[in-house]
Amino acid sequence: MDAITREKDGPVQILRFNRPDKKNAITVAMYKALDEGLAAGEQDENVKVHAVLGVPGAFCAGNDIADFLMAAQKGTLGEEVLGFLRRLVTLDKPIVAGVDGVAVGVGTTMLMHCDMVLATQRSLFKTPFVDLGLVPEAASSLVAPRLMGHVRAFQLLAAGEAMDGAGALASGLVNRLVPEADLETETLKLAARLASRPANALRTARRLIKGDPADILARIDEEAEHFRSALKSPEAQAAFLAFMSRK
Ligand code: COA
Repeated sequence: MDAITREKDGPVQILRFNRPDKKNAITVAMYKALDEGLAAGEQDENVKVHAVLGVPGAFCAGNDIADFLMAAQKGTLGEEVLGFLRRLVTLDKPIVAGVDGVAVGVGTTMLMHCDMVLATQRSLFKTPFVDLGLVPEAASSLVAPRLMGHVRAFQLLAAGEAMDGAGALASGLVNRLVPEADLETETLKLAARLASRPANALRTARRLIKGDPADILARIDEEAEHFRSALKSPEAQAAFLAFMSRK
C-alpha cells in the first residue's frame, strides 16, 4: 500500500497521506513521493488545483521520528525534505488541504503554504520542535508570525502549545471548520470551485497575494542549518529515544 496516494477528481489532483498505522508520520520516501506528486500535477495541464488530505483522525503526525534518528546519525537533513518544502512554496497552481485529527510538526507548518485550508473542530495542530530539541522548519519561523502575529506564533512554534480547530481558525491557519463527515467532500468541492475559475487570472492573483518566495526559500535554508545541528544534539537524541521507547 502506497503511503502517499495520488488520484484525480476531474481537474483536482489529490495527494493523500495514507500511513494510518503511524498516524501518517512522514518518511523520507513519502517526502519524495509528495515532491514528485506535486511536480507531476504542475506538469499536467488537466490538473488545475492540488488537494492534500489525510485519513479520518490523522492528517499527519509530522516527520517520522525514527527517520530523525537516522538523519542525525548520517548528519543529513534529507534533500527529500527540502525538495518537498521548496516545491510546496514555489507551486504555480493553487493548493488546498483538508485536516482532521492530528497535524503535528510539518503536518502543521505545510498548511502555512496552502492557499485554503478546511479543518474539523477536533483537529489538533501542534509543533513540538523545541520539546524535541529542534527548531521550526518549513519557513514557519517567518510565515507564522506574519499569519498570526508574534505571540500566537511563539505559543505554537516555541512554547509548543497545541491548538484545536477553533484556535486554528482564530489564528488564521484555516479558513473554516466543517463536520468530520463532510471534510473530504467540502475540501474537494472547494478545490473544484477554484479549478472552475479563469485559470490565468487565478494564477496571477495567487502570485500577487503570495509575493516573491525568495525570503521564504532563504528561511527554509537558514532553518535547515540550525535543524541539522539540533538533530545531533544530546537533547534531541534523548527526546527521540524517549518517544520511541515510551510504550
Ligand atoms: N514518527 C514515528 N512514529 C509515529 C509518529 C512519528 N512522528 N507519530 C506517531 N507515530 C506512531 C506511534 O509510534 C505509534 O506506533 P506503534 O503503534 O507502532 O507504537 C502509532 O504511530 C500511533 O501513535 P500513538 O502515539 O499511539 O497515537 P496517539 O493518537 O496516542 O498520538 C500523536 C498521536 C501524533 C499525538 C503522537 O503519536 C505523537 O506525538 N507523535 C509524535 C509527533 C512528533 O513529535 N512529530 C515530529 C514533529 S517535529
